[in-house]
Amino acid sequence: MIYKMTITLKDGRECLLRNGTGDDAEAVLSVFIATHEQTDYLTTYTDEMPITLDEEREFLDKCTEDERGIEMIAEVGGKIVGNAGIACIKNVDKLRHRASFGISVDKEYWGLGIGRGLTESCIECAKNAGYTQLELEAVADNETALSLYRSAGFVEYGRNPKGFKSRISGWQELVLMRLELE
Ligand SMILES: CC(C)(COP(=O)(O)OP(=O)(O)OC[C@H]1O[C@@H](n2cnc3c(N)ncnc32)[C@H](O)[C@@H]1OP(=O)(O)O)[C@@H](O)C(=O)NCCC(=O)NCCS
Repeated sequence: MIYKMTITLKDGRECLLRNGTGDDAEAVLSVFIATHEQTDYLTTYTDEMPITLDEEREFLDKCTEDERGIEMIAEVGGKIVGNAGIACIKNVDKLRHRASFGISVDKEYWGLGIGRGLTESCIECAKNAGYTQLELEAVADNETALSLYRSAGFVEYGRNPKGFKSRISGWQELVLMRLELE
């Protein structure tokens, strides 16, 4: 999906929100690795990442052509500092209306409004793509993410007490959230 929009951050800088393409593969992978090393709230550890640079390039090019999916990137001063994405849960009749949402922003850029910008842009894309429901899971003590999601309209519909097994802290409860798009 193609997307482009500029927002002004809380410190006055401009941030470009746009779909990532194959040309961004290296920068996207490097911000992915950085964000996954900065927090224990994401699903994978960097040593478990199965994706190569060529696969990432192919994935981003595929997303660009995909009418129902996007890998959104946030760029500040020409640097990619965060990303978010929506993807169809499964392309079968009973599930085609549901999309999953994921997001991460480089710690150096937290609190500036990038997370909100990425989330709102992805919601807009999910609506445009015709999804009925956007879904996510967040670690229960990830207050920043939960507060962002609630304020964007996501509603909790359940919890999984043993959702993640962290190498650092053991069991992490997951909050299941959904946003109706109609
Ligand atoms: C969650 C995350 C994406 C938020 O990104 P961000 O760019 O810092 O978010 P924003 O600056 O747009 O803030 C959005 C909202 O988050 C909340 N928030 C931000 N900083 C916060 C803090 N220190 N404490 C509590 N809430 C906070 C506020 O509700 C804020 O809303 P506001 O616009 O009214 O101030 C970012 O912290 C991150 O990447 N965390 C690590 C990865 C992660 O947890 N991803 C989500 C997995 S489910």
